[in-house]
Amino acid sequence: KIIKDHFMRGIILRPAQGVNLEEARQIAAQYGWNIELKEEKISDPIEALKEKFDELYKDESKLVQRPPVVTVMGHVDHGKTTLLDRIRKTTVAEKEVGGITQSIGAYQAEIDGKKITFIDTPGHEAFTEMRARGAQATDIVVLVVAADDGVMPQTIEAFNHAKTANVPIIVAINKIDKPNANIDLTKQQLASKLGLVPEDWGGDTIVVPISAKMGKGIDELLEMILLVAEMSEIKCIPQGNARGVIIESELDKGVGPLATAIIKDGIIKPGDYIVAGSTHGKVRALRDEKGRKVKNAGPSDPVQIIGFEEVPDMHEILYVVDSLDQAREISAFVKERQKKERMVKGKKHVRLEEFMRI
Ligand code: GTP
Ligand code: MG
Repeated sequence: KIIKDHFMRGIILRPAQGVNLEEARQIAAQYGWNIELKEEKISDPIEALKEKFDELYKDESKLVQRPPVVTVMGHVDHGKTTLLDRIRKTTVAEKEVGGITQSIGAYQAEIDGKKITFIDTPGHEAFTEMRARGAQATDIVVLVVAADDGVMPQTIEAFNHAKTANVPIIVAINKIDKPNANIDLTKQQLASKLGLVPEDWGGDTIVVPISAKMGKGIDELLEMILLVAEMSEIKCIPQGNARGVIIESELDKGVGPLATAIIKDGIIKPGDYIVAGSTHGKVRALRDEKGRKVKNAGPSDPVQIIGFEEVPDMHEILYVVDSLDQAREISAFVKERQKKERMVKGKKHVRLEEFMRI
């Protein structure tokens, strides 16, 4: 009847195109009806998992300190990987093709019995997205600035990511061994371009001059990281079902979907049922950053997880749940929602004026 009435007035309604809420309201009003919008209430299982943790976090007596997760950021070639190498006393930079970091790697260092988890990030502009993700899995950012080059575009970018993530920043002025290194000029640029005023200039930014290559200033930098970590009260729920962040993932020819996660709460172990966004699975094996099998991983540990049905997206939150059915249901829910979101995005919206004109 509606279509016919409109047709008689020279307006063609196309049912297949549908109408939006405003159009529906106008049409309904012509027949003396009133349209009321009712939100479809679907309980979000991911939200429910998150709320469980929020609830646990309310009881401060149950929280314990965990090691800081530190992301090393900075402009290309300013020495991020060299710094991490120095800390790990390994030589990853030399082994990498062209000396450019191709994916995020995570490593754990131990200083005087205290652990620090480090995340390396690639320096090229194309990896900005990854770097943004790196920042959000992190508690502290070490911003590496080469003293012979100063504050560069990607230094500013990295700084902005860290600021958005509301993470404390420690600046490492690197390459101070170079004859053309200019620490004062670099500090000046930090202050003028980023508003990071060094402590010795009366500001509150910790700035440590280092030479990653020569191993100078590294101990002091580590000390500062531990100091900031202590002040930041980085806490976790030490036991129970784990929660973490996926920082990298790939399809491995040998073992299938492979994901690296930083565990934030609880303990993950083989046999656990896991879900990360639209994929789920059962932990078949866990490996540490050196590829060795481990029996479990806890807060701030980087861990490789084998057992996902599909490759999880980077930056997804990983949850351990009680059963495979639950893991499957949650991932199916997320998959369905993602599908709907894609459909809504893809659907062309017809404006009222346009369809009245036809
Ligand atoms: P991307 O991952 O490509 O962004 O680079 P990166 O920031 O990881 O830099 P990388 O550690 O690969 O170092 C780049 C170059 O600078 C290498 O040739 C290093 O040997 C050199 N380098 C790093 N740190 C120092 C330093 O303290 N002094 C000197 N002289 N050279 C350094
Ligand atoms: Mg690198």
